[in-house]
This record gives sequence, structure tokens and C-alpha cells, in this order.
Amino acid sequence: MTESNTEVLLEVTDLKVHFPIKRGIVIDRTVGHVYAVDGVDLAIRRGETYGLVGESGCGKSTLGRAILRLNEPTAGKVVFDGTDVAKLKGEKLRKARRRMQMIFQDPMSSLDPRQSVESILLEGMHAHGLDQDKAATDARLRELLGAVGLPETSLRKYPHEFSGGQRQRIGIARALAVEPDLIVADEPVSALDVSVQAQVVNLLEDLQDELGLTYLVIAHDLAVVRHISDRIGVMYLGALVEETTAAELYENPLHPYTRALLSAIPVPDPVVEDSREQILLAGDLPSPANPPTGCRFHTRCPWRQASLCDSDRPQLREIGEGHRVACHYAEDIRDGRITPHEVEPELVELTGALNPGGGPPDVGSVTEIL
Ligand SMILES: Nc1ncnc2c1ncn2[C@@H]1O[C@H](COP(=O)(O)OP(=O)(O)OP(=O)(O)O)[C@@H](O)[C@H]1O
Ligand code: SF4
Ligand SMILES: [Mg+2]
Repeated sequence: MTESNTEVLLEVTDLKVHFPIKRGIVIDRTVGHVYAVDGVDLAIRRGETYGLVGESGCGKSTLGRAILRLNEPTAGKVVFDGTDVAKLKGEKLRKARRRMQMIFQDPMSSLDPRQSVESILLEGMHAHGLDQDKAATDARLRELLGAVGLPETSLRKYPHEFSGGQRQRIGIARALAVEPDLIVADEPVSALDVSVQAQVVNLLEDLQDELGLTYLVIAHDLAVVRHISDRIGVMYLGALVEETTAAELYENPLHPYTRALLSAIPVPDPVVEDSREQILLAGDLPSPANPPTGCRFHTRCPWRQASLCDSDRPQLREIGEGHRVACHYAEDIRDGRITPHEVEPELVELTGALNPGGGPPDVGSVTEIL
């Protein structure tokens, strides 16, 4: 991203996505909610790559999908280039969606196996009236394949005829076909062999430079996010707990959860590996159907204090320039006034199944975003 570009393309304010938990055979009753996304504020600048990390189930995909209105927000605003997408309906929503595309984790299950590459690429263009002129459309298809490094002969082939990395290139070309401004890439390389991950990451970066794209990249792998992101947001149980530049996050993590995540990454140097701080978290991720009171991390936090932590939910607040943290004691932790201690895991009661009816597939499909 160019330093001078500070124009905000996407602004999310207090976004919530709560999924009802239904019970009952004859009459469906709502017996609770999964608080998958529960009050997220973030802004992404034009041309920027924003990385989103956090444990499985913390709400990353739901947040990405809610931005594109693939999940209906329960509350909050999603302002894309000046328009609140959360309020759009019908044709206006469809038009706005052209400008926001998604790349899915598993290209095999997100591409229709019965469609040729040509038909996959044309589908979105057709839906948005971008295929009016035959000669221009043919040229565009060739241009798209060239942009993602696939030969023109790919047009007549089907997804199963490609390798995983090539299929992800088709998924990227499909997203690019409708000339989006923002791409939400949900775990774009985690289903790929390590050897091809870097190629796909490099391709995404080259395309960003060439086309001025803005990315929201969701990933488990902190190494991928660090490499690709300008800024990173760390999510825990439906909310951001820390946000800053990639360099600052790795050099100076302030939230206890971020510290724990980073301390879990092995360091290649054995001397450094032996001497570095390792933070072990007690217990599993609590249920998003019954999140802990106060700070949602308090049941596992090695720095937890007797006051505030279990009673008041900390807001994401700016501590250093462009560095936001949701912790009551961030300054004390930073300055070493309080130190970590053993944490007794607390029992967090589960109120019902997390995924009633099996829940959604994690990968999503292409047709729903046309
Ligand atoms: N449509 C749905 N109905 C009910 N619960 C859902 C639905 N979609 C997601 N959830 C639940 O919301 C929570 C957040 O899910 P989400 O898929 O957003 O997490 P994630 O951070 O993307 O996880 P992962 O890293 O495993 O992909 C989970 O508890 C999940 O089971
Ligand atoms: S607010 Fe308390 S429990 Fe939460 S991260 Fe900070 S110290 Fe830990
Ligand atoms: Mg996910």
C-alpha cells in the first residue's frame, strides 16, 4: 500500500452477527444465540491488506461474510465507499456486491465441478452485464487467465483437471472477472501444499499492485498474515482484541491473547527458542453461545486481575499511534507492572449445540455472491 493513501474504503462499526439456536420438533423455539460476531469496529484503507487472525470458531469467516452480506448482520454498519451495505436491498445490493468479492479456502468445493473455467469466469460477468460485446469478452477472459498465470487452453477445462494451486488461481480469476475493489480472502492458501502457498500469496500481492485492490485476508497461519498484511486485527470470541501494523504486532504485542498466539510460533534458532517467553493458555476457547462476562479472555488470561477483568468488557482503545488494544491493563502489562501467573481454567457452561443443524459449510460457494 502507498503510504500517502489514507482514504478509507471499508468501515465496519459495531457489527454483530448472532445466529439463533433453535429447538423443538413441532414449533421451532429460539433457545439462545451464537454470538459469532459481537461488536467489531474496523476500517480498511483503499489499497491496503488487512489481515484477520484468531482461533477456529472466533468469528473470522462470519465477519468476512457479513461484510459482503452473505451473512445478515444482526446490528451495526458496514460502510463501503460511502454506502451502508448493511441497509441495501435488491438491485442496489447486487450492484454493491460486484465491487466486493470473496476467495474461498477450498477451491475444489467452491467451484462448480460441472462448469468449465470459461463458464465459471463468465457467470459473474454475465450477472453484472459485463459480457455484452463478444470480442471484448473473449479478450477479457484471456486477460484474466494471463493475470493469474494460467494458459488460454484452460478455458475449456473443468476444475478437476487442475491442481489445487491452479484451482485457487481460477477462484482468483473468477473474483477479478467483475472488477472488484475489495477482495475478502478467507484462508486463501491453507488448503494448498506448502510449496504452492507462496506462489499464490505472491500472485495476490502482484495483482494488488497492478489493480490497486484492497484485501481482507483471513488466516490461521500467522506467518502468511505477517508476510502479506499492512495491518493485522486479532480476533477472540467475536471481537477484535488488538489491531496494529504487522511489524508492530510482532515486535510489540500488547494484548495477552496476542502474546500467547505469538509465543506458540516456534523460532528456528534453538538458543532463542529455549530462552523465549512461552505463554500457555488454560482451557479451550469458551462457547460463543455463552461468552464469559467482562473481558471475554478472562477465563484464560495469565495476567487476569481481581477487579474489572470478569465484570467490565474492555473497549478497543488506542494505546500507541495506530495501535488499538482491548485490555483494561494493557499499559501495566506493557510496562511490566503486572506479570503473568498461573490461571485456573473456569468451567464455561455450554448452552446448547454451537452449530444447530450442522451449521454452514466453512468454505462457502460462488453462486451466492453473484
Ligand atoms: N450459519 C450459522 N449458524 C449457526 N452458527 C454458526 C453459523 N455460522 C457460523 N456459526 C458459528 O459461529 C461461530 C463462528 O464461526 P466462524 O466460521 O465465523 O469462525 P472462524 O473464525 O471462521 O473459524 P475457522 O477458523 O474454523 O474457519 C462458530 O461457533 C460457528 O459454529
Ligand atoms: S482485561 Fe484482564 S483478563 Fe482481559 S486481557 Fe486484560 S488483563 Fe487479561
Ligand atoms: Mg473460517
